[in-house]
Amino acid sequence: MSTPDDTSTDTPATCPFTGARAGQAVAPTSASPAMTQAGGPAPALAPRPRIAGSNEPRKTLLLTGASRGIGHATVKRFSAAGWRVITCSRHAFPEECPWGAGPEDHIQVDLANTDSTVAAIAEIRDRLEGGALQALVNNAGISPKGSGGERLGAIDTALDDWKTVFQVNFFAPIMLARGLAPELTAARGSIVNVTSIAGGRVHPFAGAAYATSKAALNALTREMAADFGPLGVRVNAIAPGEIDTAILSPGTDKMVAQIPLRRLGTPDEVAKTIYFLCTESSSYVTGAEIHINGGQHV
Ligand SMILES: NC(=O)c1ccc[n+]([C@@H]2O[C@H](COP(=O)([O-])OP(=O)(O)OC[C@H]3O[C@@H](n4cnc5c(N)ncnc54)[C@H](OP(=O)(O)O)[C@@H]3O)[C@@H](O)[C@H]2O)c1
Repeated sequence: MSTPDDTSTDTPATCPFTGARAGQAVAPTSASPAMTQAGGPAPALAPRPRIAGSNEPRKTLLLTGASRGIGHATVKRFSAAGWRVITCSRHAFPEECPWGAGPEDHIQVDLANTDSTVAAIAEIRDRLEGGALQALVNNAGISPKGSGGERLGAIDTALDDWKTVFQVNFFAPIMLARGLAPELTAARGSIVNVTSIAGGRVHPFAGAAYATSKAALNALTREMAADFGPLGVRVNAIAPGEIDTAILSPGTDKMVAQIPLRRLGTPDEVAKTIYFLCTESSSYVTGAEIHINGGQHV
């Protein structure tokens, strides 16, 4: 399984639109002047284009964990369909990225930090035009390993690490959903929480904190579907299996023989399902967790 690793805080910033890497890493918690979420000047907003050939204003997606892997594929999928995508990650938007609309639609936030998350929510609300948000995708996730890359089990996971995993994987999604509830309600929007196959069964590489946080996020999806449904907001989860992202745990290739479709999934295959859950095609689907794992769960 590709389990995102929270020790990668010095990972170079990656353009969420092109995948281009910045030449130099940006300190994860230092706000960039161009995109600060904590008091700095926000960049000037240009008028939003409308969807070509239509009077409909562009729909907006807020996406966490946009800089790599599944998040990166999700940016591309929604952008190709004409959506405005507001991206979030710990890193600043790479200056050399050729995507013109990127910096003004990027929020630098550390979802492990509640103050940073609260400030980011205020910044996001400021940047939303017309007070409407059509989709929130809680994709950012961390899965810490031991110093030698080993799985951290229920006995050997430090309590502080456990709390950090839950802050990013579980509490940040509900903070964002509650903080943006008025805008999601105004748009009769959709929330997608990214869980994991590890939330439903013990996994050889995913640690106990990660697995329990994803199980909790699936339960939270059910609760949110009940509470947001009367507001017209649908809430679903997607549970990826082994997806071919940059950070594959050694040994993932050996698992392919046990997967009925006999291959890893691609980030775009996940992004396509996220898109389905954020659009009219899934208008009567809420409270569901969709498995995207080539049959690995059967
Ligand atoms: N890949 C798989 O096989 C797989 C399987 C099951 C579930 N999933 C789930 O799918 C989601 C995406 O996985 P992925 O493999 O695409 O992950 P990834 O490549 O490791 O990317 C993780 C993303 O989360 C962001 N992030 C991490 N910590 C953050 C923090 N404290 N604050 C803000 N942003 C943070 C990262 O951006 P910065 O580093 O710039 O902050 C990055 O954009 C995760 O929720 C993961 O649990 C993945």
